[in-house]
Amino acid sequence: MSTGQAKPLLVLGADGMLGRAIVQWCTREGRPFHARTFPAFDLASPDSIRRSLEGEWDAVVNCAAFTDVDGAETSERLAFAVNAVGPASLAHECRQQSVPLVHFSTDYVFAGNGAEPYPPIDPPAASPPANVYGRSKLAGERAIAASGCRHLIIRTSWLYAPWAKNFVRTITAAARSRPELRVVDDQRGRPTSAQHLARCSLQLLSRVHEPGMSGVWHVTDGGACSWFEFACEIVRLANASCSVHPCSTSEFPRPARRPAFSVLDLAKTVEALGPMPDWRINLAQVMSVLEPL
Ligand SMILES: NC(=O)c1ccc[n+]([C@@H]2O[C@H](COP(=O)([O-])OP(=O)(O)OC[C@H]3O[C@@H](n4cnc5c(N)ncnc54)[C@H](OP(=O)(O)O)[C@@H]3O)[C@@H](O)[C@H]2O)c1
Repeated sequence: MSTGQAKPLLVLGADGMLGRAIVQWCTREGRPFHARTFPAFDLASPDSIRRSLEGEWDAVVNCAAFTDVDGAETSERLAFAVNAVGPASLAHECRQQSVPLVHFSTDYVFAGNGAEPYPPIDPPAASPPANVYGRSKLAGERAIAASGCRHLIIRTSWLYAPWAKNFVRTITAAARSRPELRVVDDQRGRPTSAQHLARCSLQLLSRVHEPGMSGVWHVTDGGACSWFEFACEIVRLANASCSVHPCSTSEFPRPARRPAFSVLDLAKTVEALGPMPDWRINLAQVMSVLEPL
């Protein structure tokens, strides 16, 4: 079987930050796709999932999710409905139709108390995710893996794009309006350009029927940094005369606990796709096409 161009991709959550990047990449590559967005498509509704999947698809690319990390602490039922139960139904439908499923997950499935990059395996039971969002996404991963459908579960982290609400746009706007910023320096991870993620995801999808491809993958930019280091580079590229100061997570208490170390190991992905461009390179590309703030 091939993921040729005859059948379209079904892109779910097509108006989210990553969904827009997937749509942009398909458009650029001339790859046919159908886009579904909330509320016409509701990942929390098995009926809506069934209806949305009616048709003939080359693959289903699920960019829809409950992504409000702090909000999940008080909306646990909804977070699990969208991030765990919904993906389980989606995987079941994909299995029934023999359609591969591309699904996105997060560095937050790991507790974040390690010191070495996390390989693309199930996190150890002794180290559960630090917050509700992470637990709901991990439950979604496990449901897809158990469904028997051909799948790519692509974990990513610290997503940014020229559009939507994200750290790059927030810091750029703040740097233009404030003389100084304080940014946490004790959380380390890998930023990820949504456009880079879209490109890599569709490259992996083109090989999904090869042996060993179905499973968990990590896709991020290359390199790693703290939020403070990330912010310094954003401010530099924005040519803003704003000073950035490091601070600790404890100075900015949030409802959801954040992992201190959430660097995803990229070795398997690099072997399949080649090196991931350094985050400074991807960031400069995104900063050059930022949509109006
Ligand atoms: N952003 C990050 O830093 C990050 C990091 C790691 C992993 N990820 C993962 O990457 C994927 C894409 O994230 P993103 O940043 O692009 O998220 P996003 O911008 O928040 O987009 C999520 C999309 O899902 C839609 N949605 C929410 N509830 C829905 C429901 N019940 N049914 C159908 N659609 C629903 C949203 O629609 P509305 O806008 O109308 O609510 C939005 O279009 C997610 O799986 C996320 O967990 C993201």
